[in-house]
Amino acid sequence: MSVDLAIVPVAGLGTRLLPATKSQPKEMLPVGRRPVVQYVVEELARAGVKRILFITGYGKSSIEDFFDINHQLVNHLRQTGKEDQLAELAFERNEVEYAYTRQREQLGLGHAVLIGEPFSGNQPFVCALGDSIIGLHAKSNIVERMIEEYERTKADLVVAFEELDDPREVVHYGIAQPKGAVNGDVFELESLIEKPAVDEAPSRLAVAARYVFSPSIFDELRHTPRGKGGEIQLTDAMRAVMAKGGKGVGIRLPADEPRFDIGNFESYFHAFVDFALADPQFGPGLAESLRKKLQIT
Ligand code: UTP
Repeated sequence: MSVDLAIVPVAGLGTRLLPATKSQPKEMLPVGRRPVVQYVVEELARAGVKRILFITGYGKSSIEDFFDINHQLVNHLRQTGKEDQLAELAFERNEVEYAYTRQREQLGLGHAVLIGEPFSGNQPFVCALGDSIIGLHAKSNIVERMIEEYERTKADLVVAFEELDDPREVVHYGIAQPKGAVNGDVFELESLIEKPAVDEAPSRLAVAARYVFSPSIFDELRHTPRGKGGEIQLTDAMRAVMAKGGKGVGIRLPADEPRFDIGNFESYFHAFVDFALADPQFGPGLAESLRKKLQIT
């Protein structure tokens, strides 16, 4: 059976985006017209995912409301002759089943994924971070390709990577240590190095918010000691899987399908501008206004 289950961790506190995230989840911040997490779900649904478990936390209930059907709003739009707006709510009726559970202490991404174990049981699953979009308007089919590679290579884990333009950036990311030379977009992983020094980085390939895991990840997460900041790191568990002989496969994002990470203001601003410029209705006007402001002729 193909992988049709996803865990979407959205429980982080988003402290790098304060005060914007003081009383709303960062995953609900808009990028262009939609909240980030809507793009994530659309991407998963297109890849054939049928059930999504959100790992939520305190103050994140607007995510549950968002994916529920708002009958009052639908009736209001009908009664006030705004039927054309109903198309904007079509996602409420997609065929995905949603489940929600809470991470009651922010003990890190690895801990958040572990909370999904009773839901996924003994099945492989996709893990998609709720604060990252892949490709402009999430048009990427990377998750579908990752599922195919998971099945074809009989891997224990498949990880998406983004090639960093600037090698000095490696210090901020989990970086791939490929097994041998990387020829093409799919490669075998030896291990991962978390935030290496520039001269110690085995590649410029940074972990990019999408994973496919076999249930073996849970065996490692259960025993992963707390690392940096007292958190259980997903990277540590992935390394342990590979150190014990589990097969890791990397897949490089195509250059025209970048990762839009909205976890800090710099990358959030870039993401918003890219999506707004690509908006069919308002993009051209915005581009014109930016050209004037920047005095580009
Ligand atoms: P981040 O690593 O960006 O952490 O999370 P954060 O806590 O949300 O943000 P800062 O560092 O305080 O600004 C990456 C993804 O993992 C989820 C987040 O919701 C986000 O989607 N996450 C992170 C959890 O679900 N639980 C955690 O304990 C940490």
